[in-house]
Amino acid sequence: KEDASLPAPIRIRLDETDPSKITLGTADKPGTRVRVLGRVHRFRAQKDVIFITLKDGYGQMQVVFGGELIKTYAALTLTLETSLEIRGQLRELPPNAKAPLNRELHADFFTVIGAAVGGDKEAITNKVQAGGDPQTLLDQRHLVLRGDVLSSVMKVRAAVTRAFRQAYFETRCLEVTPPSMVQTQVEGGATLFAFPYYDQQGYLTQSSQLYLETCLASLGDVFCISPSFRAERSLTRRHLAEYMHIEAELDFITFDDLLVHIENVICRVIDLTFADPVTAGYIKELNPDFKPPSRPFKRMRYSDAIDWLNENKIEFDDEDLPEDHPERKRPHRFGDDIAEAAERRMTDILNVPIFLTHFPVEIKAFYMPKDPQDPRATESVDFLMPGVGEIVGGSMRISDYDELMAAYKRVGIDPTPYYWYSDQRRYGTSPHGGYGLGLERFLAWMCGRFTVRDCVLYPRFTNRCTP
Ligand code: 4AD
Repeated sequence: KEDASLPAPIRIRLDETDPSKITLGTADKPGTRVRVLGRVHRFRAQKDVIFITLKDGYGQMQVVFGGELIKTYAALTLTLETSLEIRGQLRELPPNAKAPLNRELHADFFTVIGAAVGGDKEAITNKVQAGGDPQTLLDQRHLVLRGDVLSSVMKVRAAVTRAFRQAYFETRCLEVTPPSMVQTQVEGGATLFAFPYYDQQGYLTQSSQLYLETCLASLGDVFCISPSFRAERSLTRRHLAEYMHIEAELDFITFDDLLVHIENVICRVIDLTFADPVTAGYIKELNPDFKPPSRPFKRMRYSDAIDWLNENKIEFDDEDLPEDHPERKRPHRFGDDIAEAAERRMTDILNVPIFLTHFPVEIKAFYMPKDPQDPRATESVDFLMPGVGEIVGGSMRISDYDELMAAYKRVGIDPTPYYWYSDQRRYGTSPHGGYGLGLERFLAWMCGRFTVRDCVLYPRFTNRCTP
C-alpha cells in the first residue's frame, strides 16, 4: 500500500534530466519523488535488495527495491519484460557504483501492469544478446527488438533518416512521395515483384527515380524516402526484398555536380547524426572504430578498377560456366560486371570510400547516357564503402528523346507504358541526374553490422515474410 504521507510523485520518462523538474537526493536529503513506467530489462536479487534495470524506450534507470517491497509476491516472482509502475525517490549513486545517468530510484511503491511469461531469467531478450540460431531469432524478431543492440540500431536509423531530411532541406531539395504500385520497371525485369492490380498486372516499385524525374520541371530538385522492392534470388548479406530507398534527382547539373552533391549529403548526414550526443553514444557502443570518411572521396573509373583487379590477381568468376570450365575463373575484362566479392575485396584493400564511375553501357540501366569521352562507358557512379560495398547507385539520365527510344530498343523494353517518362524529353528537356542510397547499407556501415538484416525492423528477404 502506498504511504499517503509521501509527496505526490511527478511522472517522468527514464531519460529525464531537467534540473528544474528533478533533484537527486542522498541518504539524508530527500530527492524528487517520481513515478515511472517501463519494463524490467535486467534484475539482480540479493538477500535484502533487488536491483532492477527498467527501460521505457527513452532510457534506462536503476531501481532499488528494499525493505517490505521485496517480500511481496510480485517482487518474489518478478520476470524479465514485466511492465511496472514504480514510485520512489531519485538519489545519487553510492561511491563506485555504476548505473545509467549516475542515479537510482529508491522505490517505495510499485504495481505490476503486465507480468511477463518466463519465470526463469533466460528470457528470449537475453538469449538473443548472447547469439543464437538465426532462424529462431528471426521468428522471434518482435522479442529480439527488445534487446539493446537492435533497439539501438533502430534509434540510429531514425536519427539518420532525420539527418537526410535536414541535409536535403538545406540543399533545397523538396520531399515528394511517389507511388509504390507501378507498371514500369527501372532496374531490370528479373527482380520485379508482380501482383494482380484489378484486371491488370502491377509491380512493386524498384526505384522511384522515373517519378522523381517528372517532378523536376515544377518542383526543382526533389528527394524521397520510400521503400523499394526487389525479388532478389540470392541470399547475401546486403540484399533485402524490401529496403528503404533514399533517392534524389537534380536538375540542370553535370556529372561532376552529381558526385559533389552525393559527397556533400553523405558528409552532412554524418555530421548531423553525430551532433546529437545520444545518437553518437549508440554508434560508439555499436561500432567503436567508426571514423567519418575523409574528403574528397577517392574517384576511380571502372576501367581503372578492372586494371586494379587484374594487377591484384582478383579474378572474374563466371558463374554461368561449369565449375571445371577453363574460362570459369579468368582475369577481368572491360564489360564484366564486377561481382560483389571482388568489389568488396577491392574496397576493403583500398580501405577508403570510393566513387566508382563510368561503367560500361551493357551492364548498366537503359536510362544512362554515354560518356562523351568514351562511348563504351556511361556517366554512372556506384559509391562503395569498406566493409559493406555499394551503398549508392546513380547516374546522369539520357536527356535526348531519340537516344532514349534507342535505349529502350537496345534492352527490349516496350516504350508504350513509359510515355510519361519519355515525355520529359519532349517538353523542355534538361541535363539531369540522381541516385539512390540504401538506408540499411548505410546503417550497416555506420553501425558496424555484418548484414543489412540487422538494420531493419522486420527483414524481408528470399522466402522470409514473417513476422
Ligand atoms: O543501384 P540501384 O539499383 O539504383 C537504382 O535503383 C537507381 N534507379 C536509383 C536512382 O538513381 N534513383 O540501387 C540503389 C541503391 C544501391 O546502391 C543499394 O544501396 C540499394 O539501393 N539497394 C539495395 N539495398 C538492399 N537490398 C537490395 N536488394 C538493394 N538493391 C539496391
